[in-house]
Amino acid sequence: MTMQNDAFLKCIDPRCGLEYPISSTNVKCEKGHMLDVKYSKKPSENLKEVIVNRGRMDGDVIFNESGVWKFRELLNFCQIDTFNVEECSKYLVSLDGAEGRQSKPYHMSKAAKFVGISSENFWLQPEGYNPSGSFKDNGMATAVTHAKLVNAKKIVCASTGNTSAAAGMFAANEGIDCDVYIPAGQIAPGKLSQAYQFGAQIIEVDGNFDDALKQSLDDAEKFGGYTVNSINPFRIEGQKTIPFRSLEYLKWEAPDWIVYPGGALGNTSSCGKALMELYEWGWIKKIPRIAVINAEGASTLSDLYNGEFEGEELRWNKGNPNSELINRYYSNLDAKSLRPHTKATAIQIGRPANIMKGLRALEFTNGVVTTVSDSEMLDGMAVVGLNGFDCEMASGATVVGIKKLISEEIIKKDDVVVGILTGRQKDAMIPVDYHRNHKNTFAIPPKN
Ligand code: F0G
Repeated sequence: MTMQNDAFLKCIDPRCGLEYPISSTNVKCEKGHMLDVKYSKKPSENLKEVIVNRGRMDGDVIFNESGVWKFRELLNFCQIDTFNVEECSKYLVSLDGAEGRQSKPYHMSKAAKFVGISSENFWLQPEGYNPSGSFKDNGMATAVTHAKLVNAKKIVCASTGNTSAAAGMFAANEGIDCDVYIPAGQIAPGKLSQAYQFGAQIIEVDGNFDDALKQSLDDAEKFGGYTVNSINPFRIEGQKTIPFRSLEYLKWEAPDWIVYPGGALGNTSSCGKALMELYEWGWIKKIPRIAVINAEGASTLSDLYNGEFEGEELRWNKGNPNSELINRYYSNLDAKSLRPHTKATAIQIGRPANIMKGLRALEFTNGVVTTVSDSEMLDGMAVVGLNGFDCEMASGATVVGIKKLISEEIIKKDDVVVGILTGRQKDAMIPVDYHRNHKNTFAIPPKN
């Protein structure tokens, strides 16, 4: 196979626009801006038909079963013949087709009633039904595919737990090494145990996720290692398949809203990129609005976007955002020793590494950002459970975030809404403690 140049990396700053070959392992351009994977060819709309017909019937072709690789023409950075199974097998990393396979939008009537919307307009998509238990498997399949393409021997990440579980799982399956940097004592036990179980090398960092990310990036540069955090543009490519699956299920009729919890903003960024591309390619006629839900105790994006810091509403501003405002926000956090704090440790993040791409996504989709409290998130998590689905506390933010935006009439009662449930429960005692306390909205306390 000869490498073509239909896919390449490009700086997201329109005033810079530096380009790099797909074989580059830089996560930033020379000037320190983030990178996008770009495709020079427009995928034909006829592919919609091809994709919809891929699925379980093709059990012998794992790439058709995979919820990520069934969309491989829309993320063909390996520039392979996507209809050639041998070529797919050589390049594409897959856990036997399991990544993204089980996730699609579901109606959940009790959650719909709770948020105050009719069940037929309301969908929740449980990404916790991925093999490692979170949405991270979507992007990890593609990041590890790129790691293999460039012959990386070791992948490296910082994590609040789910990224490390996904990275460990794919690394073990591919026979490559994996180092994970975790904020010591601040990740759910079920996530920590997955990293051990998959044989990853754990590095405990005395600090929070932001400190762990800094150390992992420094070490990856010093000692050699391929970074698989969501600042890696190839992670973003795989995570585009989350909205692809929602939209495919809705027959490419765009909903009014797609809602995510916000942490490092990889999801926000990938959803934005997916929608930008689909709109440009003519696959969707309407642009859904993205709503990002921060935890009250880890609300950097919300503070900046909603002008709660220095009064200025931070915007992408067509590629000219006020980065000084962001710097001053972070200096203020440091000066006052303010640390992100929420029981939803998955999103306990103070410095969202993808903030620039996140802002771009919000501008393109006319998005909104809000915050919810820990106790609200627990209610969101609990009501999902009552529908027979499982999710973790951070994912509960999606549900209560929607409820809050409906009560504020930002989401209208007849809008069509898709909420992403990012991960399954990996902190066994959270539901137990929630239900034991009869004061909680959905508690069903034990009897004796
Ligand atoms: N929900 C869950 C369950 C997560 O694990 C994360 C992030 C998020 C939401 C936030 O997503 O970063 O794309 O805005 N977890 C990362 C990790 C940081 O290390 O597992 P985001």
